[in-house]
Amino acid sequence: MEKLEIKESLPPGGGKHNLNDYESVYETFRFEEVFADFSWHTTGKVNMAHELIDRHVMGPKKDKTALIYVDDNRRETYTFDDLRRLSGQFGNLLLKLGVKKGDRVFFFMPRSPEIYVGMLGALKIGAIVGPLFEAFMESAVTDRLADAEASVLVTTSVLKGRVPREKLPKLRHLIIVDEQPDYAEGEVDFARAMAESKEELEPAWGTLEDPMILHYTSGSTGKPKGVLHVQGAMIQQYITGKWVLDLQEDDIYWCTADPGWVTGTSYGIFAPWLNGATNLVRGGRFSADGWYRTLQDEHVTVWYSAPTAFRMLMSAGDGMTDKYDFSSLRHVLSVGEPLNPEVIRWGFKAYGKRIHDTWWMTETGAHMIVNLPCMDIRPGSMGKPFPGIVAAIVDNMGNELPPYSLGNLAIKTGWPSMMRQIWNNPAKYQEYFAVPGWYVSGDSAYMDEDGYFWFQGRVDDVINTSGERVGPFEVESKLVEHSAVAEAGVIGKPDPVRGEIIKAFISLREGYTASEALMEEIRLFVKTGLSAHAAPREIEVLEKLPKTRSGKIMRRVLKAQELGLPVGDLSTIED
Ligand code: WTA
Repeated sequence: MEKLEIKESLPPGGGKHNLNDYESVYETFRFEEVFADFSWHTTGKVNMAHELIDRHVMGPKKDKTALIYVDDNRRETYTFDDLRRLSGQFGNLLLKLGVKKGDRVFFFMPRSPEIYVGMLGALKIGAIVGPLFEAFMESAVTDRLADAEASVLVTTSVLKGRVPREKLPKLRHLIIVDEQPDYAEGEVDFARAMAESKEELEPAWGTLEDPMILHYTSGSTGKPKGVLHVQGAMIQQYITGKWVLDLQEDDIYWCTADPGWVTGTSYGIFAPWLNGATNLVRGGRFSADGWYRTLQDEHVTVWYSAPTAFRMLMSAGDGMTDKYDFSSLRHVLSVGEPLNPEVIRWGFKAYGKRIHDTWWMTETGAHMIVNLPCMDIRPGSMGKPFPGIVAAIVDNMGNELPPYSLGNLAIKTGWPSMMRQIWNNPAKYQEYFAVPGWYVSGDSAYMDEDGYFWFQGRVDDVINTSGERVGPFEVESKLVEHSAVAEAGVIGKPDPVRGEIIKAFISLREGYTASEALMEEIRLFVKTGLSAHAAPREIEVLEKLPKTRSGKIMRRVLKAQELGLPVGDLSTIED
């Protein structure tokens, strides 16, 4: 795979661009220009935590607020120097536990200052960070920890109940961030171990190609896959933070995503701190009042959220927006699902700002298609490629298609934040690059004559519910573990607020009859066994599921029937 080399010939500070003119930046920008903004440009030594935090402490940002944490009961602020010291303590704590460079340190806990301190500490010693969304239940947690062979898990006294240690022989230590009365073998008291740990820690120096973070995400077949990113992703996370998020010295930036998902790390940790910005994190659950209070009281200037959240705020009513003052907001952005034109129009009325859409994926590590602040927004379009990125609509052979043709959204390989591996699964990695020279995203889209991209849907069966990616296979596997379920096929069904909801079609085993109570039991079985967001909101019982002759459930037939669309080619169906 193509790799970025440090080009010593470049002038420090990189080239200058006119950010008010997309075309000219697109024509002239090269990622190599920003190398000079990093300390490794002169030292040759790379460490992500150093670039995020320690480097700023050596300059005028030492006492600048790096992190504002708020929830309904708690408000704390941390300076860059606080985070340097705390991450040093956590890194030393991990070293004492025997964690080595490249070991997987996982985090399974709600948003709180400790998770940020912990992730920074792990990065500082060169461990690979593995985030797990807090809503995952036992089987989701087990699959991911086992595949990654995680040796340490940072979690809470409650969430550890979903971690079957007997099934995870490689998992040596649980670090418990809250208090608990007794500590079992292998359990570490976070507060105590931190207190015993020193702050000074020389970062583990490495290269741009050293692994840094492993995000599990879903495809349409098989178990979730571990998408591995390397330290060099910082190049793109930094410059997109600067140009797309438009982060400036005095900004208060709020990304609403959880660090269990890629937006919550690339743009909830990396982009803001690489730019030395003040990063606000709001813990707890969604509430329109709570969110608006945070926007107003914390004087948020740059706000990055998702269509489902905007739609939920929209449905909270204009009476709600009228109660709050959004005058500090300068820039609003969205990611994760199609952003409806009516949401953009409503957002402009409600906040006085146009919502800027961005498109990218776990696998791409950073923004790919964006609306730079200078661009005219075309509501319904995701925008244009970020400078340095080549995007196209290609057919299945890799031929580029002319404007307005529907095809695969593809990216020329070799961008800095491109994933470098699917953990333990090189064959899966290669599938993304089956068309030579291109990364094929799995999204279908078209491009208009001015180069704006328009999302049309997924090519595969991946479900996007409330902006969260769910693989039907994982849900189906859980469903058939229930004693009443013989077979299961799972699809995404369009929903006005959540984008899609999960609908399951099942057939029952002998001796079971469909009833509301049974459906509720099956739904709960998935909710408590896998995760709440992956539990089907609708379950329909069928006599028999449509299958290919080789026994594969045909989700596209289920989906077509559900939507009242033609079922298409049935030549491979069983009977
Ligand atoms: C979808 C989230 C429409 C898309 C960063 C993609 C979008 C998947 C947009 C990746 C957008 C993301 N408009 N759809 N602006 N952004 N998607 O890996 O289907 O959780 O392939 O990464 O979300 O989801 P993931």
